[in-house]
Amino acid sequence: APSSEYQAESAAISQGVVESNHAGFTGSGFVNLDNLAGSYVEFTVTAAAAGPRPLTIRFANGTTAGRPMDVLVNGVLAADERPFDPTGAWTTWVETTVTADLQAGANTVRLLSTTASGGPNLDRITLG
Ligand code: GCU
Repeated sequence: APSSEYQAESAAISQGVVESNHAGFTGSGFVNLDNLAGSYVEFTVTAAAAGPRPLTIRFANGTTAGRPMDVLVNGVLAADERPFDPTGAWTTWVETTVTADLQAGANTVRLLSTTASGGPNLDRITLG
C-alpha cells in the first residue's frame, strides 16, 4: 500500500496544544501534550484492506527522561508504554515504528500519555 502521512496538528487533541516554536517539524506545527497521564492525540487513518501495517511516529523529547505512551488502534493496545526516549533537544525529531493491525476503512490511532510527564512533542504519523 502507498504510505500516508497524518499530521498531529490536524488530529483530535485532548489536553494539548498545537505549537511551532521548535524547528524541524513537518506540516504547520506539532502537538505539545499537557504534562499529565491521559492526554492524547487521536488520528483517524484509512486503510484499503485489513491487515498489519507499519505505523511510524515522529516525535521529539528534549528532556532527559522517557515520555511513555500507549498506542491504541481502534481501542486495542498496539504498543504498551512505548518509551519515547530523549532525543537530545526539542528540535531533534526522530521516528519510532509500531505495528498497527488495521481494518478496512476508517481506524482510530490514539497516542496516550501514561505518566504525569505527559507525552513527547508529536509531529506526525506515517502508515507504511
Ligand atoms: C518545554 C518545551 C515544550 C514541551 C515541554 C514539555 O516547555 O518547550 O515543547 O512540550 O517542555 O516538557 O512537555
